[in-house]
Amino acid sequence: MQTGQGYAIEDKTMRMTMEKTKRRVKISSIGVYVPPKILTNADLEKMVDTSDEWIITRTGIRERHLADESQATSDLCLEAARRALDQASLKIDDVDLILVATSSPDTLFPSTACWVQKGLEATEIPAFDLSAGCTGFLYGMIVAESLILNGTCRRVLLIGGELLSKITNWKDRATCVLFGDAAGAVILEESPDESGIISFFWQADGRLADLLYLPAGGTRRPASEETVRQGLHYISMKGNEVFKHAVRRMGEAALEALKRAGLKPEDVTHFIPHQANIRIIEATGERLKLPPEKVYTNIDRYGNVSVASIPLCLEELRAGGKLKKGDIILMDAFGAGFTWAAIVYRW
Ligand code: ACO
Repeated sequence: MQTGQGYAIEDKTMRMTMEKTKRRVKISSIGVYVPPKILTNADLEKMVDTSDEWIITRTGIRERHLADESQATSDLCLEAARRALDQASLKIDDVDLILVATSSPDTLFPSTACWVQKGLEATEIPAFDLSAGCTGFLYGMIVAESLILNGTCRRVLLIGGELLSKITNWKDRATCVLFGDAAGAVILEESPDESGIISFFWQADGRLADLLYLPAGGTRRPASEETVRQGLHYISMKGNEVFKHAVRRMGEAALEALKRAGLKPEDVTHFIPHQANIRIIEATGERLKLPPEKVYTNIDRYGNVSVASIPLCLEELRAGGKLKKGDIILMDAFGAGFTWAAIVYRW
């Protein structure tokens, strides 16, 4: 039964038959880039009225990496993309689409994907951006899966890149302690076997858009001396509201995606939640009744790197030899929009 949001397969026999025959899209390589400069909580103590203890207890973050002045989002994406291509021993000409998920584009137009295309010296393959807040990487996987399965693309280069430090108000202690910069890229293609995306669930609720947004710089409020004076070109966030919705929606999305895969939380080998706040991660893990060792976290070292957080976790697990063939990975994210999504994936 198709529901418009993945497949809910109630009947076990039918599910097992489909398991064997369903075409899958898999990640064939991963590349990440994290800028070298580190900003610690001790550094932040000198910038705003905060403390290492407050930041660790409330968010789980100890340090974050920041891009330097000369870098734009596409520079981070470019490096991650090159690493993903190298890992797969592919050239950009082997790819049919560049898809960048970001909320901090180099320019309003053209897309960051086109700047990446220029950097990669790619021939005239299509390139576009996808904006879905921190959920953008999972939305991108879902879009890429569909384009590959319907024959439009053979391989998609999906990059989640974010440079939030340049749209963060470094005088606002409620937001500046949270974010970091990074990019993660994957190459997606049809799987020769049962590995790959098993199911997904994705939703959004634009009625809550103004709880987390960038007020100025778009057509609603074009940049002006006044918007700059009021700091409206920086991230505006009602943190505790975001928190409540994130906990609720990430739990729902994970359970629904698992249901659509015909799996239960206990079948999950690795839970990879978007790294926004350790308390959101722990609350979601508890809702799914997952033991802490199955819940992957690296927020202490990177902070919230938005769309880059899930590929960064995946790459750490892969590079650490922790991903075994057949492992069930549950990816789960929530972000501006609000948007939320979960993907069940067989490694
Ligand atoms: N240091 C010290 N005190 C602080 C700081 C700080 N850095 N920031 C806020 N406070 C104070 C507040 O002023 C407030 O003080 P008051 O009680 O005197 O008014 C107190 O701490 C509590 O503030 P809350 O906002 O209620 O604190 P909360 O426990 O909710 O934690 C936080 C704030 C960390 C922002 C949390 O709400 C959170 O993580 N929310 C989710 C944010 C998020 O995930 N955003 C990204 C979404 S994904 C995307 O698309 C980018």
